[in-house]
Order: sequence, then C-alpha cells, then structure tokens
Amino acid sequence: MHLPLLALLSNVLAPGLSPTLVVQNGQQKLGDRRVTVELGVMSRCPDALLCESVFNEVLPKVADKVDLSLLYIGKPNSTDQDFGITCLHGPEECAGNVQQLCVAKYAPSSTWWEFVQCQNYEGRYRVGSPDLALKCAEAVGIDWVQGGAGQCAGLDGSGKGEEGVRLLRESVESTQTRGIVRSCTVLIQGQQVCIHDGTWKSCEINEEYERLNVDA
Ligand SMILES: *[C@@H]1O[C@H](CO)[C@@H](O)[C@H](O)[C@H]1NC(C)=O
Repeated sequence: MHLPLLALLSNVLAPGLSPTLVVQNGQQKLGDRRVTVELGVMSRCPDALLCESVFNEVLPKVADKVDLSLLYIGKPNSTDQDFGITCLHGPEECAGNVQQLCVAKYAPSSTWWEFVQCQNYEGRYRVGSPDLALKCAEAVGIDWVQGGAGQCAGLDGSGKGEEGVRLLRESVESTQTRGIVRSCTVLIQGQQVCIHDGTWKSCEINEEYERLNVDA
C-alpha cells in the first residue's frame, strides 16, 4: 500500500537524480539543500495517520536528506470563537493541529515527529486531547511548561493558546493558497506528487514504479 511512496522517495533521493546530493571522497554527502517534503493533513484524519505512519517507516532511511513538515487543512470561519477555523473532524482536530504546530516550532524536529507518532498511537479519536498532548510531551522529553510549546498551545494542553491558534490560521491559509485540499497530500519540493484519500491517488510515481518493476 505504501510502495508508491517508497518508490517515490527513493527516486527523489537516488544518487545522481537528486541535485541535493554530491559525491565527496567517494562518499555520498549532502549538498546544502535538503529535499522538502510536506504532508497536507488534518490531524484526526485516517488518511493522515496512515500517511504519517508510512513516513515513519521511511524516515530513518532518509532523515538526513529531507526536511519534513506538516501543513494543515481547514476552513477559515470567523464565527468560530476558539480557532477561527473549522476543522473537518471537529474542534478537537483543530486543537491537535495547534499542539503539533507548537511542538514543531519549539521542539527539535525528531522530537516533534515522535510527539506526532505518540498522539497517533492512541488512535485518531484521541488526537487533540489535552491530556494526551501533555502525556506525549512528557513521553518524548518535551518540557511543556518551560520549553515554549505549552506557552504556544496553551499550558493546559487545550490547543487554544494565542500563538498556536495564529500558527494554525497561517497554516490553513497557506494550504488554501497552494490548493492543498485533501488529507493526506504529499508534496515534494513544493509539488503535489501523491494523495492518499482512501487509497493512493494521483501518484505520478505509479507509472514510473510499474515501469521499474516490469523491467526488474
Ligand atoms: C463556523 O463555526 C461555527 C462555530 O464553531 C459553527 O457552528 C459553524 O457550523 C461553522 N460554519 C461552517 C461553514 O463550517
């Protein structure tokens, strides 16, 4: 099920194909630029959880070559008091998005990713819960109160902190502007390359992948 994505990433990161890789002293080394990988998600969406779990498998192999981030899909809504955003899977999803955005901003990137995995591990209906945010922060070694994430997302874990809500609005505006509407949308170097919406769709890599495997 996640083979298209693996094929896609290995293509992007394959030596000789990627402009970001250089060979030095016979060793593959990184150039200055990493490959930008973005996932357009909603934190409580089954497709997002699936997509993130696939990246969790791939990431150890490519961690030093990619910059991974999550972008959030929602709908600006000025009558929503807490977020100013309507999230498809409810206000808890908006809270989950904010918690993740704040951890992304204030924790090292590997810790941020562990935090997201920790939330997902409890199942999508728990993502966004204040208790779980605090529990996951502790589990991955984030000092919620002193480290910045708590100030940003709300010390009580509510996801309603002023800064975090602003980050959510910015993220939603950005996905809207960029035409990212389905969770999960995979973007590599800013280009939409794949969507998981029930199944993998619009994966440009599918043809390439099939060709490679016919040849093999
Ligand atoms: C806007 O937010 C309000 C309050 O959360 C909600 O009742 C309403 O359904 C939302 N409107 C849309 C179009 O999602």
